[in-house]
Amino acid sequence: MINQIVTIERASLARLEEALEILSRAELPHDGVKENIESFLVARNDFGKLVGCVGMERHGELGLLRSAAVLPEFQGRRIGGKLVGELLKLAASEGVTEVALLTTTAKDYFEKKFGFKEASRTRYEERLHNSPEWNLARCSSATFMILKIRNQHDPTEARSHSLHGQFSP
Ligand SMILES: CC(C)(COP(=O)(O)OP(=O)(O)OC[C@H]1O[C@@H](n2cnc3c(N)ncnc32)[C@H](O)[C@@H]1OP(=O)(O)O)[C@@H](O)C(=O)NCCC(=O)NCCS
Repeated sequence: MINQIVTIERASLARLEEALEILSRAELPHDGVKENIESFLVARNDFGKLVGCVGMERHGELGLLRSAAVLPEFQGRRIGGKLVGELLKLAASEGVTEVALLTTTAKDYFEKKFGFKEASRTRYEERLHNSPEWNLARCSSATFMILKIRNQHDPTEARSHSLHGQFSP
């Protein structure tokens, strides 16, 4: 993948099947992806192929970060980091103050790279009870993590927030 440009952009229904394929390769659930696809970001290489994705379910000011995945052959090239970083910036600009996630595979990744901390589920149960991911049996034993983010909510900024799209992994 020498000198490839990767573009981070908002997902749309048109990219749903490709995003689901990435999630299948990572053995991550499809539940709730279609309903939330417009809150997903995807990474596209310069051949137009989707190589990664990450999503967010909105539950008021709480965001549930989910479906972070990069195709195995593209991992370790900062694509996951860029996707998550851009999603967190976008969430902050849209009024999210806390981001939660559930993980069985990447606790250290989210802790070391982004500062998420393991947290008790109890305080969040009510707000997340409608979440497709939260209600999956396989997520009941997953590590629950929280990141508080600075609220930069400003409707003008939210409208004009542009993804710092392209980079060379
Ligand atoms: C987690 C994932 C999205 C990271 O994407 P990526 O593009 O490979 O990550 P980056 O290139 O930005 O970062 C690589 C760094 O993260 C570390 N890392 C990657 N996956 C990790 C994991 N599961 N646990 C801990 N550290 C991890 C790498 O060791 C590397 O560390 P370094 O910077 O010290 O060398 C990707 O590995 C993936 O798709 N994994 C399978 C699906 C998954 O577990 N998703 C999380 C669901 S909650």
